[in-house]
Amino acid sequence: MSDVLLQLNNLHTHFLTDKEEVPAVNGIDLSVHKGEIVGIVGESGSGKSVTSLSVMKLVPSPPGKIVEGEINFKGENLVKVSEKRMRDIRGNEIAMIFQDPMTSLDPLYTIGNQLVEGIRLHKKTLKKEAYNQSIDLLKQVGIPRADEVVDEYPHQLSGGMRQRVMIAMAMSCEPELLIADEPTTALDVTIQAQILDLMIQLNKKKNTAILLITHDLGVVSEVCDRVVVMYSGQLVEEGTKREVLKDPQHPYSQGLIRSLPNIKERDQKLYSIPGTVKQPKLGEVGCKFAPRCEFAFDRCFKENPELYSLGDSGRKSRCFLHDNKEGDVAKDAATTLRS
Ligand SMILES: Nc1ncnc2c1ncn2[C@@H]1O[C@H](COP(=O)(O)OP(=O)(O)OP(=O)(O)O)[C@@H](O)[C@H]1O
Ligand code: SF4
Ligand SMILES: [Mg+2]
Repeated sequence: MSDVLLQLNNLHTHFLTDKEEVPAVNGIDLSVHKGEIVGIVGESGSGKSVTSLSVMKLVPSPPGKIVEGEINFKGENLVKVSEKRMRDIRGNEIAMIFQDPMTSLDPLYTIGNQLVEGIRLHKKTLKKEAYNQSIDLLKQVGIPRADEVVDEYPHQLSGGMRQRVMIAMAMSCEPELLIADEPTTALDVTIQAQILDLMIQLNKKKNTAILLITHDLGVVSEVCDRVVVMYSGQLVEEGTKREVLKDPQHPYSQGLIRSLPNIKERDQKLYSIPGTVKQPKLGEVGCKFAPRCEFAFDRCFKENPELYSLGDSGRKSRCFLHDNKEGDVAKDAATTLRS
């Protein structure tokens, strides 16, 4: 499609330690269209952050390395571009916000200094003018006393305020893509909603595409258009928010949805998927979810399932149950067992 902004093709990012090579991102295909909000969900260790850091070329190296694949952003393969070009893209065309804003804010400079620098990097503006624009931006993201905060240092602000500053910075350079890695995880619920709302506004007003990484399906249902589910370095399901949340097809996504608290049934016992995400291993055979899957059958331990397309709408699921009669039999048996 012509309005694709970001396209990952068969991306592999590995960590090479003394003992082993960990395929943290193991063949990801993913697209983000202009103005679209795509959520990446999955448990801790599934490779969400490494995927987003790969796009920004910020994977710590060593030990990390993009070993295969392409990251196409507006027709340019970021895997191949120079660090100089990448510095230009970061902040100008792709902005990133993290769970802990202190990762990106410089403790030695005032909020104003950092915003002014961002604004002037993007547009030739006089310092004074950029300073006034900074105050405007701080007001736009709902920071009270913006004309004082502009001269304060990051440590003088609360976590929620720092995250607002990060969004103001992202707004200042008007990127086409914002990557937000667990931007609201450290915040309390009310502030969380306000920050998500700011991101939605940024998307609506400036048509900024957002790649939102979260382990919180509630956040996905508030914000995203499309969702991809990751498990052990691979994409296991993809679809619109409605499809994935209302009718998950992959057993792992089904487990994630089942573990959501249902407000209608307050006294229910919360479901949790048994076991934990395994550290991915090179050359491993079989479905990565098999040890935890209630539908697993023989083939699941012997072969790697491909990503099956379900219809032509871009819906996908990596599970043998979409394949053959053997899968149908196993699914029926497991459903009977469960009911
Ligand atoms: N610097 C590193 N050195 C070695 N291995 C790493 C490094 N960073 C990540 N990994 C490995 O890569 C895998 C994916 O990690 P990643 O941080 O992407 O997970 P995540 O899905 O973002 O989890 P979380 O929800 O906890 O943030 C993990 O197995 C992790 O151990
Ligand atoms: S391929 Fe097998 S183990 Fe993997 S999710 Fe499907 S049924 Fe479960
Ligand atoms: Mg992470």
